[in-house]
Formats: sequence, C-alpha cells, structure tokens
Amino acid sequence: MTDKILYEGKAKVVFATDDPNVVRLYYKDDATAFNGVKKGTIDGKGYYNNAISEILFKLIEEAGVPTQLIERTSEREMLAHTLKMIPLEVVVRNVAAGSASKRLGIPEGTPFKRPTLEFFYKDDDLGDPLVNEYHIFNLMEISSEDLELLGIYTFKVNDAVRPFLLERGIRLIDFKVEYGYDNEGRIRLGDELSPDSCRFWDAETNEKMDKDRFRRDLGDIEAFYAEVLRRVSNPPA
Ligand code: TMP
Repeated sequence: MTDKILYEGKAKVVFATDDPNVVRLYYKDDATAFNGVKKGTIDGKGYYNNAISEILFKLIEEAGVPTQLIERTSEREMLAHTLKMIPLEVVVRNVAAGSASKRLGIPEGTPFKRPTLEFFYKDDDLGDPLVNEYHIFNLMEISSEDLELLGIYTFKVNDAVRPFLLERGIRLIDFKVEYGYDNEGRIRLGDELSPDSCRFWDAETNEKMDKDRFRRDLGDIEAFYAEVLRRVSNPPA
C-alpha cells in the first residue's frame, strides 16, 4: 500500500495504489462552505459519507450509470477507478432551494414542475459559475455526445435515488454530481453522493438532514448525518 497523495480536496484525499487504474479515496471530517470561506469539522462525517456514498453508488450502478466505486475497504476509505475529472458540477433540482431560489426568486420548498438540470464550472477563483452548454464547449474539450450523456446519467441518478430515499422518509430536494473519464475512456460518476452534496429533507417534517445544517448553523449535524445513514442502510419502514 502506498501513501502517495495524488490530490487532496476539501473533503477527500486521493491516494495512489500499486495499480494505476485504481485509487484509494479517504473521506475526511473537514467541512467547508461558500467556496472554502467557512471551515469546520463534523465528527464522523468521513465515515457517514463513505458509507452513504457506497450504498447510493451501488444503487446508481444498478440503474445503469457507471460509478467510480470498486469497493469500500474501511470506515473512511474506498477503492475507486482512477478518473480524470471533468471540471463540472452537474446539479438536478426537484424542489427550489439554495442558489436556485436566490437566482430565480422562487421560494425555497417550491416544487419544480419538472426536474431541472444545471451545470456549474468548477473553478474556485471564479466561484464555480453557472454555465450552459455553449459556455462549456468554450471552457473545455468535451464532445456533444459526452455532455449529453452527463445530463442523461444525472437524470437517471435522480430517477433511482429519489424513490429509494422517499421510501425511507427522505425527500431528495436537489443534488450535485461530478464525472470523469476512466483509463479506458469511459465516463463514470465520481466524487461522492452524500449529505455534503445533496439536499435531503425529512419527508414528514421537512427538517434539513444535510450540509445546509453546517452552512446555515442549524446544529445537530452529526446526528442528522447518522440518521441519513441509518435510513439508507435499512429496508423501507
Ligand atoms: P446550490 O443550491 O448551492 O447551487 O446547491 C445545489 C446542490 O449542490 C445542493 O444539493 C448542494 C450541492 N453543492 C455541492 O455539492 N457543492 C457545492 O460546492 C455547492 C455550491 C453545492
């Protein structure tokens, strides 16, 4: 096992392995918001997000979207396909919240008439701006087929994860995913799918069960992350 760090992000560390096609992802407890301006730690977050991501990645893979997951190997680590990441955050929204509510003047909690796709260009200096397809072709090398695939895959994720969560008492308000190319040139969903990268609201009370508790200082963060893991680990009630 090597300890060579290939990349360290805000929430995860990517380690090399002896196989160039495989990396080891380590999920940290560090939390940031607003492009790293707000910093903190959430005890146990790495464990919860690794475990939640494993469950949701398996579900997504069954729905026909290739993911980076090979296997979860410990509480905070998974082995994953090496990916060359595409610098886009792909967001699907079922209900208005967060930046969409601000930008469009639609009150948080208003259901969208249809799931809505957005792309953000990953660039910290620019603050990850909202971009459309035309912008994307000017910002990076990507074919129209591949860009279309990102949209198709992300809606498939929504179609698989949304009912799975609802059966477990969680509304999927919106989520963000990222993709990359593996060493065979195949697009795979990478990064994570967790309360850090999704909005999860309790289906009964609409209580927030995700990173908005950190962003907005709502408290009880660990307890809600633990509760999300408990619900996704168990069959529907
Ligand atoms: P937004 O409403 O702030 O644009 O967020 C949309 C979704 O994307 C929400 O589920 C949170 C997630 N997200 C991230 O995973 N990383 C980010 O840096 C941001 C801004 C949002």
